[in-house]
Amino acid sequence: MEIRATNTAQLDWTGDTLAVGLFEDAVELTGDLASLDQKLDGTIKELIEETEFKGSVSATAACRVGANSSIRKIILIGLGKKNALSLDSLRKSAAAIARTAKQQNSKTLAISLPVVNNDPALTAQGITEGILLALHLDNRFKSEPEDKGAKLEQVELLGLGDQEAAVRRAKAISDGVILARELVAAPANTVTAITLAETAEEIASQWGLSLEILEKEDCEKLGMGAFLGVAQASDLPPKFIHLTYKPEGTAKRKVAIVGKGLTFDSGGLNIKGSGSGIETMKMDMGGAAATLGAAKAIAQLKPNVEVHFISAATENMISGHAMHPGDILTASNGKTIEVNNTDAEGRLTLADALVFAEKLEVDAIVDLATLTGACIVALGNDIGGLWTADEALAAQLKAASEVAGEQFWQMPLEEKYFEGLKSPIADMKNTGPRAGGSITAALFLKQFVKETAWAHLDIAGPVWADKESGCNNAGATGFPVRTLVNWVLSDV
Ligand code: BES
Ligand code: MN
Ligand code: ZN
Repeated sequence: MEIRATNTAQLDWTGDTLAVGLFEDAVELTGDLASLDQKLDGTIKELIEETEFKGSVSATAACRVGANSSIRKIILIGLGKKNALSLDSLRKSAAAIARTAKQQNSKTLAISLPVVNNDPALTAQGITEGILLALHLDNRFKSEPEDKGAKLEQVELLGLGDQEAAVRRAKAISDGVILARELVAAPANTVTAITLAETAEEIASQWGLSLEILEKEDCEKLGMGAFLGVAQASDLPPKFIHLTYKPEGTAKRKVAIVGKGLTFDSGGLNIKGSGSGIETMKMDMGGAAATLGAAKAIAQLKPNVEVHFISAATENMISGHAMHPGDILTASNGKTIEVNNTDAEGRLTLADALVFAEKLEVDAIVDLATLTGACIVALGNDIGGLWTADEALAAQLKAASEVAGEQFWQMPLEEKYFEGLKSPIADMKNTGPRAGGSITAALFLKQFVKETAWAHLDIAGPVWADKESGCNNAGATGFPVRTLVNWVLSDV
């Protein structure tokens, strides 16, 4: 499928299906749309009346137009209220158009949507992301897929001028989101730490990034007792992945992105019971998946920023050599941890990954993790939690997430709650009380970053969607690849 932006006007486009946006407060036909309606013998007016189309957000209506016209079908898409138009609402409108065009078996499609923020490039980027992400179809595990995918061959974004760079950016970002989705959706018997390391290897060799994989012995030498404690019950080898993108010339900044990479979380001996969602725990590597997704996009977009992509990948299993609840582990910064709950394993793996990241002397570290059920309780399934003591970094990440259309809410790094992690025998416990569970998790991680600007993103909710919505399909979402890429690309 080819997507390009052009200067063609609605009236002049010839092809299969034309999609036009209508605001909720202006469904009457004026200007170009009135001329188009006239050209189509009143079909648009009739469609609006027949379907009682009101222009509410993402409402769609479609019909066949007269045989002698320059187009075969028309799709109307509701844009909501004019003053509420945003990049993300356009991205979602584009997703709804793409889904409708797929149902209509359209081969060529033209999309006519308003320019947002006076920025045709950003508009083209958002629309392209919406199309590509909505049409992404994962049939890898179906022997005979019933959904054969869209028949679209060509999509033209009308009236935006030539936006080659913006479309290319959207494609790279969508590539990254789709990689993350496919890694998360794949079950734990197909995606293991070995697979994550191989995926990093593919990105490295395709795009010229450097890759360092630390094997178990290497991690032992570095004293990564927290990570290895989690890994010790698995029959599969752990892999500590460190993928590096370096721009040509001197980088204007240097950052690290650290993703939790638990390819399965059984809970360990504090095993997750039935009804706990244990069967969904293949998605516990959502942080690592988004880290690799961001790497794939950034490798293509080549920003002037050095980026380290890191994940301590393993699975949390049970066996005769599993951690006992109560075991004391020593992390690579020398801190000792009483494991009062083996199911709080993500923070143990991240502890060593954060220590490793800080040694790289980066300007900022962002970790992302499906860390706590408590964060889902606090913010629901659509919003990620953001913790940082660095308000400048918070502002950067919020701005990036706004452009991405991925929601975060800043949560308190309330030092007082560290009380809950005090251990009588070791430096800290890995689990605090139930109340404020996502905050104590963040405070635990904070113990492993000394002085680098650091932010923690808890993405336990939004990595997975039960239903299709916006440009997410049901299943893995690829959250928050778009935020990470925008953050790296932004001029801070
Ligand atoms: N991977 C889970 C968190 C999670 C829960 C992600 C639900 C996605 C959906 C994490 O390792 C975990 O088990 N956390 C425990 C922590 C508790 C033992 C302190 C939790 O949230 O219950
Ligand atoms: Mn767990
Ligand atoms: Zn986990």
